[in-house]
Amino acid sequence: MALQVIRDISQLRSILDKHRLQDKDIVLVPTMGNLHEGHMALIRLAHKHGDVVVSSIFVNPLQFGLNEDWDQYPRTFESDVASLNDENCHYLFFPTDEEMYPNGMESQTRVFCPTMTDVLCGASRPGHFEGVTTVVTKLFHIVDPDVAVFGEKDWQQLAVIRRMAADLCMRAKIVGAPIARDHDGLALSSRNAFITADERPRVSQLNQSLEWARQQIQNGKRDYGRIEAEAKQQILDAGFRPDYFSVCNAQNLAPALDDDTDLAILGALFTEGARLIDNVRLEI
Ligand code: PAJ
Repeated sequence: MALQVIRDISQLRSILDKHRLQDKDIVLVPTMGNLHEGHMALIRLAHKHGDVVVSSIFVNPLQFGLNEDWDQYPRTFESDVASLNDENCHYLFFPTDEEMYPNGMESQTRVFCPTMTDVLCGASRPGHFEGVTTVVTKLFHIVDPDVAVFGEKDWQQLAVIRRMAADLCMRAKIVGAPIARDHDGLALSSRNAFITADERPRVSQLNQSLEWARQQIQNGKRDYGRIEAEAKQQILDAGFRPDYFSVCNAQNLAPALDDDTDLAILGALFTEGARLIDNVRLEI
């Protein structure tokens, strides 16, 4: 069956209701489009978790700050449709801003997760996660998925969405997908389009520093503050301004304590045209 593109909430609902009546499990993969291999891996994983795969493309204005890149965010609908077809995705929900925010954004009812959202990416993007949790809640209400797949590349986003789903008794099971990377370790991202040719060979320093930090900890080093400071210096030496570099408890994203065993190391840097993020996990 070829991919069916649906712009209308009520039309999508009535189609999915028919699948539900036949006892089919519905899996949702929310995206903002400009799809790359990382998104495609999510679609492939989605097929393993259910019968009907629904992807969405919506460049959600509510999660972008005033000075951020909402208007420049790459929109590549034709090639996205071709990619989704190649992966046998069944439905693409592609709403307009008016369909998602018929009463405008200002007075839109919001979903706010009071923990984990003002640190790391939340510190430099105030309101960002409120935009994410609000739009994901709306997508869950529209699609009512049995399972929803999110990438571990956005580890903080995944942790916040898991927490929101638990707190609000959402039915959807949240599944995390491993990070898809380029040959030199750079995490695939739509924002990689903004990396210049001059920056490209150096920008994998973010991943190299995360791997270096992981190795340090695996070798028994526990002075996380010193590791973070050294990693930031490595990123500066590669010619980029670090945003944050932080050894955290992988589940609650608080700075790692001595007795924490499940760790995530998260980092972000600024290139000239973008802000890039990455993370690695480790158990000690
Ligand atoms: P977007 O950046 O398009 O990402 C859509 C999904 O793809 C997210 O779950 C993200 O974590 C995942 N993803 C992106 N790059 C990846 C990579 N290299 N490896 C693995 N997964 C990757 O994240 C969003 O959109 C939005 O915030 C959204 C959840 C759709 C809400 O608007």
